Amino acid sequence: MKLIILGPPGVGKGTQTQRLCAEFGMTHISTGDILREAIKNGTKLGEQANAFMTKGELVPDAVMLGIIEEKLFGKQAQASYILDGFPRTITQAEGLEKLFKLHDVRIDVILLLDAEVRQIIDRLSARRTCRNCNAVYNLMTNPPKQAGRCDTCGGDLFQRNDDKAETITKRLDVYTRQTEPLVDFYRKSGNLRVIPATGTPDEVFQNIKKELIGGK
Ligand code: AP5
Ligand code: MG
Repeated sequence: MKLIILGPPGVGKGTQTQRLCAEFGMTHISTGDILREAIKNGTKLGEQANAFMTKGELVPDAVMLGIIEEKLFGKQAQASYILDGFPRTITQAEGLEKLFKLHDVRIDVILLLDAEVRQIIDRLSARRTCRNCNAVYNLMTNPPKQAGRCDTCGGDLFQRNDDKAETITKRLDVYTRQTEPLVDFYRKSGNLRVIPATGTPDEVFQNIKKELIGGK
């Protein structure tokens, strides 16, 4: 199965993708995590991406399409995955379609998570992420058992530097201008499912499962 998870920054894409992958044995492909890993490792890609990410802007399409082609069709390609954070522009979506056509594969479902802007800002301001395994926490709604430590691997929790108030506003604006047009793009494909994402993480997960497997 191949899924895309769409939605504004902070709506819960990473949180729900981690749950879906754990339950259904799919691979989580987060372009944000790939870029943060590159920054951590001090690679050329990381250096290039960092300048855009700290400002809340998108990394250029050609760079992202190169990353995704390698990830989806390179040596370590997987059959079953969830794309989290990609595509993010019409150009990326069209590039992805071309790649799928070339390799004769298709996306099964596009999940669109939907929540209020106020809620999104609250979620992002209190987010903490594991430096080691990328697990996502929230100081208000999903705190770690021990402050600053990941429940799963014991890794260090940190606050992403694009989770500052002014960068959050910028990212939301970038989403509206550059990513939201994808909703119409995918609506036309007939595979778009809109998921209410205003409830607790458990409730949102149930909403997604209902769409995918009828709540079983
Ligand atoms: P990326 O890492 O993809 O960030 P994003 O899209 O801005 O989304 P987030 O990861 O911030 O939010 P999320 O929806 O995953 O929410 P989460 O589950 O963490 O991208 C970062 C940057 O990389 C971009 O700005 C760009 O520069 C670059 N980039 C990446 N991909 C790119 C691409 N394709 N093209 C160009 N540039 C690209 O949840 C948020 C918080 O809320 C957490 O604390 C969580 O615990 C909490 N929470 C989650 N669900 C709930 C709930 N239901 N109730 C209460 N709290 C909840
Ligand atoms: Mg995320």
